[in-house]
Amino acid sequence: MVANASPAFASPTQARKADHLRICLEEDVRFRETTNGLERYRFTHCCLPELDFDDIDLTTSFLGKSLGAPLLISSMTGGTDRAKTINYRLAEVAQHYRLAMGVGSQRVAVENPEVTDTFAVRSVAPDILLFANIGAVQLNYDYGLEECRRAIESIEADALILHLNPLQECVQSRGDTNFRGIIDKINDLCYKLPVPVIAKEVGNGISAKMAKRLMEAGVSAIDVAGAGGTSWAKVEAKRAQDVKQRRLGTLFADWGIPTAECIVGVRSIDSEIPLIASGGLRNGLDAAKALALGANLAGLATPFLKAASESTDTLHELVDLLQSELATVLFCTGNGSIAALQGSDALAKTDF
Ligand SMILES: Cc1cc2nc3c(=O)[nH]c(=O)nc-3n(C[C@H](O)[C@H](O)[C@H](O)COP(=O)(O)O)c2cc1C
Repeated sequence: MVANASPAFASPTQARKADHLRICLEEDVRFRETTNGLERYRFTHCCLPELDFDDIDLTTSFLGKSLGAPLLISSMTGGTDRAKTINYRLAEVAQHYRLAMGVGSQRVAVENPEVTDTFAVRSVAPDILLFANIGAVQLNYDYGLEECRRAIESIEADALILHLNPLQECVQSRGDTNFRGIIDKINDLCYKLPVPVIAKEVGNGISAKMAKRLMEAGVSAIDVAGAGGTSWAKVEAKRAQDVKQRRLGTLFADWGIPTAECIVGVRSIDSEIPLIASGGLRNGLDAAKALALGANLAGLATPFLKAASESTDTLHELVDLLQSELATVLFCTGNGSIAALQGSDALAKTDF
């Protein structure tokens, strides 16, 4: 069992963040049976692309910033020395390929400002599209405009992600479970903050109905973070110190809306909202399917974490591979650009 707080860390939040990193790197925390749903779709092969592979264009833009590829390094970490190394490696590679990146929840830095530098990656990534991150439920636990502003300004972020994690909070021992009235607080922040607000789950998905409420509250973008990849119920079950929490985490390990279903759902109610697909995307083919279903960006967490924990070279290899896989889909569906793929009918639902 993993201790909740270790004397080596300044606060329980810092110890929890260290546990999350270690567990996600060393243990099997994937959903057991629930998949991301993308296996139900197949691209129609184009035997005559009428394209030169070397001209395939992966560039795109999101929230007004141009990107080298429609890829997001999803929000993960910060707050410890190990997290700092990982964040800086991720940021360096994001800068190199002009990818978007999110840092992990900055609660630990709001509580202990001395660890702010573990998130502040602008020194190595001056140009990237960078997302700050705070748990939305914290708005019911003494966080407000001031704390959110600090999270944004301390890392010079382009937007703020408010993550929604009700299941994780239920499974966590002494989790923050009062979500009452959060939507009004999100609404208030959307109109008062100087940067766009993105609503994001952490791996259990956002339904069409909830996306509609969030859009009405004023969020500028949505990251569905659906089921099928990292199961946070499972992660918290592995940290649990009592039988009840461990049982909860184990029972709910497969809870959530598969990522593909979330993308289709959100797009069925709004064709314009900037949309990020994440949750169980593991390669460029998954990313391409998510984009063809209607997402504007494909976010990956665990694959980037594993590569970053090895080396910057391994991260370069991963991004190279993801880009090649994406380009191969574009080429073999006869689409020369991401926009062409998104506007095409190349993706079909299979019967099974
Ligand atoms: C180690 C780790 C820490 C994470 N911490 C956060 C976080 O602080 N804030 C957040 O919004 N999501 C966090 N996530 C969730 C991811 O951003 C993502 O939504 C989720 O893991 C699903 O993506 P995946 O299946 O590619 O791992 C974390 C994920 C990992 C692996």
